[in-house]
Amino acid sequence: MQINTVGVIGAGTMGNGIAQICASAGLKVVLVDIADAALDRAMSTIDASLDKLIRKESITDSDKQQTLGNIHTATDLQALAGADLVIEAASESEQVKLSLIRQVDEIVSAEAIIASNTSSISITRLAAASSRPQRFIGMHFFNPVPVMALVELIRGLQTDDRTHEAARAFAETVHKTAISVRNHAGFAANRILVPMINEAVFVLQEGIASAEDIDMGMRLGCSHPIGPLALADLIGLDTLLAVMDVLYTSFNDSKYRPAPLLREMVEAGYLGRKSGRGFYRYPA
Ligand code: CAA
Repeated sequence: MQINTVGVIGAGTMGNGIAQICASAGLKVVLVDIADAALDRAMSTIDASLDKLIRKESITDSDKQQTLGNIHTATDLQALAGADLVIEAASESEQVKLSLIRQVDEIVSAEAIIASNTSSISITRLAAASSRPQRFIGMHFFNPVPVMALVELIRGLQTDDRTHEAARAFAETVHKTAISVRNHAGFAANRILVPMINEAVFVLQEGIASAEDIDMGMRLGCSHPIGPLALADLIGLDTLLAVMDVLYTSFNDSKYRPAPLLREMVEAGYLGRKSGRGFYRYPA
């Protein structure tokens, strides 16, 4: 199964990163979002990321132009009609994802694969919303997508071998290493990572150490590239809270309860880097 054109739904942090790596690998990309402003922001993020790669001499200016030329943006889902693979990377809300999957299912060809970049929602449940559950799969990328080498491939109960193999081949094309994971709340990486970050929020909330010292502790004591609270700001506190809520309700186990401070910060609109304030401040 040949994947030449990839549709990406959602031009946020994950969507623009996924669009970038696909376009850099020579694939045609259709990036869709509801607002032109979101698409403009995505294209400037991609531009800045490609500039970083030029500065590192990983790519040339002509590679950059080619990558940008491979990305077409649209505000209408109909633009996805010719896609061989559509990756849904909208916000982490089951209702939003189900509605998008139902619409996309009617637009793309019967052969096309639909994937979701969800970080926690059941792939089996999302697949069931389409008329092609055997050609539905979870493709979970990591932030920042152009830098992080991993993609988790999550098979729903219905996903067939052909789709799984096509997703593996696609991961290779976009230079990511794939691991195969069973469909279970939080999959593998987030099941471990997100409760660790949540625990760091409890440590802060209980006044045990400052944000800076918690992060320094994990960087210098455990060799993490950045501390858990700085990582929370990078991922987005709303996304983290959504993942903790899914873990808590799926396992019905109090060890997954979201830290109250995390919930309160989301209520305040302190979502991390994307809102200019999280555990740290990010002047525009
Ligand atoms: N595009 C291209 N290159 C980028 C980039 C981007 N968006 N962001 C960073 N880089 C490059 C930089 O150019 C730099 O390259 P060199 O080292 O070759 O010079 C390198 O990455 C490091 O960047 P910085 O020096 O700016 O900053 P840093 O050393 O703190 O690294 C980081 C940034 C790579 C993000 C690093 O902090 C890191 O690895 N953090 C952990 C990230 C992580 O755990 N991600 C997973 C989140 S969980 C998730 O995504 C799943 C989910 O569902 C919640």
